[in-house]
Amino acid sequence: MTYHHELRVAESIARQAGRHILRERAKNMEVSLKAPNDLVTNVDRSTERLITAAIREHFPDDDILGEEYGDHQGDSPKVGAQRRWLIDPIDGTVNFTMGIPLYCVSIALQVDGHTVVGVIYEPNRDELFSARDGKPATLNGAPIEVSDCPKIANAVLVTGFPSGRGEEFEQALEQFINLTRTSRGVRRLGSAAIDLAYVACGRIDAFWEFGLSPWDTGAGYLIVAQAGGQVSALDGSPYHVEGRSILASNGALHAELIEALKL
Ligand code: IPD
Ligand code: CA
Ligand code: CA
Ligand code: CA
Repeated sequence: MTYHHELRVAESIARQAGRHILRERAKNMEVSLKAPNDLVTNVDRSTERLITAAIREHFPDDDILGEEYGDHQGDSPKVGAQRRWLIDPIDGTVNFTMGIPLYCVSIALQVDGHTVVGVIYEPNRDELFSARDGKPATLNGAPIEVSDCPKIANAVLVTGFPSGRGEEFEQALEQFINLTRTSRGVRRLGSAAIDLAYVACGRIDAFWEFGLSPWDTGAGYLIVAQAGGQVSALDGSPYHVEGRSILASNGALHAELIEALKL
């Protein structure tokens, strides 16, 4: 399978979702709290409904997992490949609520547990990052590659922090302090999917974060991998979409980063 059709459909849905987000933000936005520091808006929800409906129109038998509405089973009983779409309708909701133009739509397709299609769309920059298994990752249709930065001392990194203020948060702060000391700089953009897309196109040399969910990393993982980067868990063990940690780099920095992230 080449998944060419699925990629084209995902790209078109992501663009449609992006237009919806910009339109709705200008009209009305209601913010509510899921947990302390964990925001959601009516636009996150309506965008997920729009994406889910569009996927179901094209692929009614496929399962869907979205951040805001959870699992949605496909129509017919499963025979053959298990197909599941992962949707983050707005990755970067805090930025979205504040009017910071760094947020995106993230859509991935997994078949039998392997990610085969990934799309990340930033509506404010009209930038569409996409990849399918076995083909070069692209940005607005042009091939992209990770950077060639060879050492942390020359690297620009990015990370994020869990919304809860527990032990994981303290550990993330410690890693942030350590790498801010030893690298050229550590950014905190507020969207894990954009962080991954920027590693894929070489704007950033590496990204790490703990406490993420499948819809945050599914698409970005594939886009980095197909742009020549390396992706693992923080300790260097294989990346798993349900695993909660991710380290994505240009490859050259990977081993040095695994050491540097140890606490
Ligand atoms: C969040 C963003 C953020 C990351 C958080 C995520 P959301 O996703 O990706 O960068 O630090 O861990 O939960 O809630 O804006 O979709
Ligand atoms: Ca959220
Ligand atoms: Ca997210
Ligand atoms: Ca989200």
